[in-house]
Amino acid sequence: MSTLGKILIVGAGGQIGIELAEALSKIYTSGNVIVSDLKPIPALPNNPFEKLDILDKNALFDIIKKHDIKQVYLLAALLSATGEQNPAFAWKLNMEGLFHVLDLAKEKHIDKVYWPSSIAVFGPTTPRINTPQQTVMEPSTVYGISKQAGEGWCNWYFNKHGVDVRSIRYPGLIGWKSAPGGGTTDYAVHIFYEALKHQKYECFLSENTALPMMHMEDAIRATLELMHAPSENIRIRTAYNLSGLSFTPAQIAAEIKKHITQFEITYKPDFRQNIANSWPASIDDAAARADWGWKEHYNLPLLVENMLKNLTHLVHR
Ligand code: NAD
Ligand code: SER
Repeated sequence: MSTLGKILIVGAGGQIGIELAEALSKIYTSGNVIVSDLKPIPALPNNPFEKLDILDKNALFDIIKKHDIKQVYLLAALLSATGEQNPAFAWKLNMEGLFHVLDLAKEKHIDKVYWPSSIAVFGPTTPRINTPQQTVMEPSTVYGISKQAGEGWCNWYFNKHGVDVRSIRYPGLIGWKSAPGGGTTDYAVHIFYEALKHQKYECFLSENTALPMMHMEDAIRATLELMHAPSENIRIRTAYNLSGLSFTPAQIAAEIKKHITQFEITYKPDFRQNIANSWPASIDDAAARADWGWKEHYNLPLLVENMLKNLTHLVHR
């Protein structure tokens, strides 16, 4: 893998970044995976760290030259719930950061870019069940608008300038190694901490709100599989639909109850309910399966068992 050059992860201190850095460091050796964020990342002591605000294009350029970076994974963004609280800044961060990276790729300073999109590109007029790869997209959040626009720009930079940029529309991601950062799907992470600590959880979505979800391990593996697939296999340069599993708060609560019999869930929907209502319940990811061989590992029982097993040690430490 060393022929592919060094990697920079921007926003590496977040929910995905910590796990992506660990996974990339097993393939490329940790010294070749440079991690950057607004502040140091104690969870990644073995990776070279650069303090970086992605809005500072000159600083990004300097880091790319200093380390001879060839690939950038751009993860810095405001997510759906925090984006609605600060729409102007969400638009600025989510769009300008992407332009900075795509422009440096266009100018041949880097060879390859990964930038995640989201199920938030879909909206209330999108078919909700088995949402197709290509369909109506009228997103209801600033976050979704920025992801939809970002997908269009990725496609444009590929078509006009040959930039090798790749993307996935992640569903809600659930992992135990790092905390989530302001999403609507994050209830499905918080629920495990509360179940282990207090045997109860008040959910900010209603009981029958089905959403597409995925174990973080599957999401990281998908990301690496996409990034390592031959360029000619990548037919979609907006972003790939990706499906793992779908469930409601009531269904995940019932699965947790099989392990923690006293566990109780209550429901107090807030502004995030409207966001969830506008998103798909399940996703058709036939293109990802056909183009680069995607297949999920985790179903709901496996995911719940894995989360409880790993979080038990952390929560009761
Ligand atoms: P997160 O909020 O956990 O992490 C984002 C990281 O970016 C944080 O460590 C933050 O400090 C950093 N950051 C913020 N502003 C920055 C700046 N100006 N410069 C540099 N770093 C900055 O987010 P995440 O869940 O890890 O998501 C990463 C990406 O994946 C985002 O683009 C998000 O939209 C996308 N995504 C996430 C999910 C999910 O369920 N977590 C689902 C779909 C898409
Ligand atoms: N998990 C993300 C969110 O809820 C979806 O992109 O914001």
